[in-house]
Amino acid sequence: MKLLDILAYLPTIETERLLLRKITLNDANDMFEYASDPEVSEYTTWSTHTSIEDSKFFLKTLVKMYKRRELVDWGIVHKTEKKFIGTCGFVEWRMTHSRAEIGYALSRKYWGEGYMSEAVSAVIDFGFREMQLNKIQARCEVNNIASARVMEKVGMQLEGVLRQQLFVKGRYWDLKTYSILREEFFDNIL
Ligand SMILES: CC(C)(COP(=O)(O)OP(=O)(O)OC[C@H]1O[C@@H](n2cnc3c(N)ncnc32)[C@H](O)[C@@H]1OP(=O)(O)O)[C@@H](O)C(=O)NCCC(=O)NCCS
Repeated sequence: MKLLDILAYLPTIETERLLLRKITLNDANDMFEYASDPEVSEYTTWSTHTSIEDSKFFLKTLVKMYKRRELVDWGIVHKTEKKFIGTCGFVEWRMTHSRAEIGYALSRKYWGEGYMSEAVSAVIDFGFREMQLNKIQARCEVNNIASARVMEKVGMQLEGVLRQQLFVKGRYWDLKTYSILREEFFDNIL
């Protein structure tokens, strides 16, 4: 698939339990349900949504980015419950270097059941096979144990800690940075 096609028509990805599909303005209620939970936003760079308007604004920004062909981010839909339960995709992308960074968030109701590892594995597969990436990164605040564990479970390696890398929510954050290389991904599946 050509890169411009991916940006123009983000394909839906199906996994065993999830559908990864384009995010829409209709997802506001489901997004607000989890994004208004302070435990979900504890280690995200975005703040807890305090009203449905926050979720609508967030979604409008994403939809504008799709239109400008700048976004490769999926909404995560629970197949049997037919519910939008989070997002997962490439939050930063440097084509010159064939490198991109994954970001994600999931409704707390669904934590600890392997859903995000399932979604991230599918996104990594897509990144290497369809986007021809060479390196996929992910970063998390050093105390975000669940997120670091997802990175390990999908085969990423810890590169190190970026000290006081971000100033978010009134303090400097140290970030663990993980990555997987194209050669590692294909070596592991052959
Ligand atoms: C991070 C997040 C996406 C993980 O989603 P998830 O679907 O629960 O992840 P998975 O079930 O695939 O894997 C989580 C792993 O972390 C482990 N884990 C979670 N909390 C843990 C803790 N406090 N101590 C040790 N392990 C922990 C789980 O046991 C599981 O590992 P296992 O399968 O080896 O047992 C979810 O917690 C989330 O949305 N958090 C809020 C948003 C966020 O932090 N996003 C990432 C920003 S970098």
